[in-house]
Amino acid sequence: MNTVCVVGSGYVGLVTGACLAELGNRVVAVDVDAERIELLRRGEVPFFEPGLEELVRRMSASGRLTFTTSYATGAAKADVIFLCLPTPPLPNGAADTSILRTAVEELAPLLQAPYPVVVCKSTVPVGTCATLHRLLEQISPLLGAVPVVANPEFLREGSAIADFMHPDRVVIGSHAPGCAALVEALYKPLNAPILTTGLKTAEMIKYASNAFLATRISFINEIANICEHVGVDVAGVADGMGSDKRIGPSFLRPGVGYGGSCFPKDVQALAHLGAIHGVQPRLLRSVMEVNADQGKRVLHKLRTQLGRLDGATVAVWGIAYKPNTDDIREAPAVEIMRLVEQEGGTVRAYDPVAMPKAAALLPTVTMCADPYAAAAGADAVLLLTEWNEFKGVDLTRLATLMRRSILIDGRNAVDPGRAAAAGFHYAGIGRGSVPEPPALSPVEPNGRVDAIAAVPVPV
Ligand SMILES: NC(=O)c1ccc[n+]([C@@H]2O[C@H](COP(=O)([O-])OP(=O)(O)OC[C@H]3O[C@@H](n4cnc5c(N)ncnc54)[C@H](O)[C@@H]3O)[C@@H](O)[C@H]2O)c1
Repeated sequence: MNTVCVVGSGYVGLVTGACLAELGNRVVAVDVDAERIELLRRGEVPFFEPGLEELVRRMSASGRLTFTTSYATGAAKADVIFLCLPTPPLPNGAADTSILRTAVEELAPLLQAPYPVVVCKSTVPVGTCATLHRLLEQISPLLGAVPVVANPEFLREGSAIADFMHPDRVVIGSHAPGCAALVEALYKPLNAPILTTGLKTAEMIKYASNAFLATRISFINEIANICEHVGVDVAGVADGMGSDKRIGPSFLRPGVGYGGSCFPKDVQALAHLGAIHGVQPRLLRSVMEVNADQGKRVLHKLRTQLGRLDGATVAVWGIAYKPNTDDIREAPAVEIMRLVEQEGGTVRAYDPVAMPKAAALLPTVTMCADPYAAAAGADAVLLLTEWNEFKGVDLTRLATLMRRSILIDGRNAVDPGRAAAAGFHYAGIGRGSVPEPPALSPVEPNGRVDAIAAVPVPV
C-alpha cells in the first residue's frame, strides 16, 4: 500500500485521489479551500461528476481517503505527491503556473529523505516540470534528489472515473530512467498501456492532444457552416468521414463550439508557446477564431428568425459546456445568454445540474424548473447543451406553450423531422438552409403558460 498525497481537490485531484484509494492506496487529499475540505469530509462533492460522490464516500468510509487543508499532514509519509492544481490563462494567453510554484515552495521544507516523487498532473507548458525541479534545488541543494515526474491527465468531465480507470494510455515523463518507476507501479493495476517519455515530451503530448481535439471540433464546425450554404446535412458528411479508419468518428459533431476549463485555455497556451519561440501558430489561431464565431452564428440564426432580439423572450436549454457536468467555465451558453440580454432579450434558462453555478454568474437570467417551464411564453428555444433529456421533449406540447414555435438547435440534438411535424421552425448546425421565420402568433399562448412559473434555484 503506497501513501499518496494529492494537492488540489478539484475535478482532476479528487478523481485521482478517490480512484487511487479505490486501487488500494492510502490517499491524503489537500486543498487550500477550507469550505471544500469540510464538504468533502461530510461526503459531499462540490461539483457534479457522475459516480464521484458515491466513490468518495466509500473510500472515506474505508479509511483510505482523508481530507486536509494542511500541506504538512498531506506530505507526511507520502511516497508520491500529485500536483493537481489550476493553470489558468494569463491575459497574454500563456498558462499561469504560479500556483504550482507556490505549492512546491510550500512543500519543499516538508520533504524528507527518502524523498517522495513529485508528480505534476496539471496541464503545463513545456519546461514547467524542469522549472519545478530547479526550484526545489534552489530552495535546498539536497532537494535536487527529489524526482519530478510529468503525468498529464486525459480524463473527461462527465466520465472522469471511467476515464481514469480505463485510460487509452498513461503518459509518464521523467528526466532520468527509473525516476518514474513508483508512478508506473501505481497505474499497473489498470492494465493500460504506459508510455514513458522525457519530461518535455509528456508536457507537449497533453497540449498537442487537446489542441488536436479542438481542431477537429473547429474543422467540423467550418464544414457544417459550408454545408448550410450548399444544402447538405453535415451529419451524413461526418458519418462518411468518420467511417474512414484514418479519420475516426470522434469529435466530429458540429455545435456551438468547444468550451470548458481545458480546450480554450490549452489551445491559447500552446499558441502562445509557439509564438514566443518564433513559430506563428496560424492553424491554432484559426481554430480559436472559428470557435469564437460559432456562438455568434447561433445568435445570428436567432436574429434571422426573430427579426430582432429586443423585447424577445428566449429559452435557453443547457448551460454547462457539455452534458454530464455542471462546469460552466468558458461554456458557450454563458456568453450567448449575455449577448441576448445585451441586445434587449429576456432569457429563461434550464440545465439539469448547472443552474446553481449559473445563477450566481447570470443574476438576470430566470432559472426554470424544467425545459417546458423555460419555454413557457418564449419566442424561441435555443438548445446549447446536448443533455439526453432534451432529445425526448414532447415537441407538440412545447409548441402549445410558446409564443412562437422557433427552435434553434445548437447541438443537432433534436430530429428536424419531429420538430417540423410539431410545427416548429427549426434550425440546426449544418443541416441545410435556415427556413423562413414564422409570423408572431396573433393569439396569446394558451392558459397553461401561466401555470408554469419560474422556479427559484438554490445558489
Ligand atoms: N477538468 C478537467 O477535465 C481536466 C482534465 C485534464 C487536465 N486538467 C488540468 O488539471 C489541472 C487542474 O484542473 P481541475 O479542473 O482539476 O481544476 P479545479 O479548478 O477543478 O481544481 C483545482 C483545485 O485546486 C485547489 N487549489 C488552488 N490553489 C491551491 C493551492 N495552492 N494548494 C492546494 N490546493 C489549491 C482549488 O481550491 C481547487 O479545489 C489544470 O491544469 C487543468 O488544465 C483538467
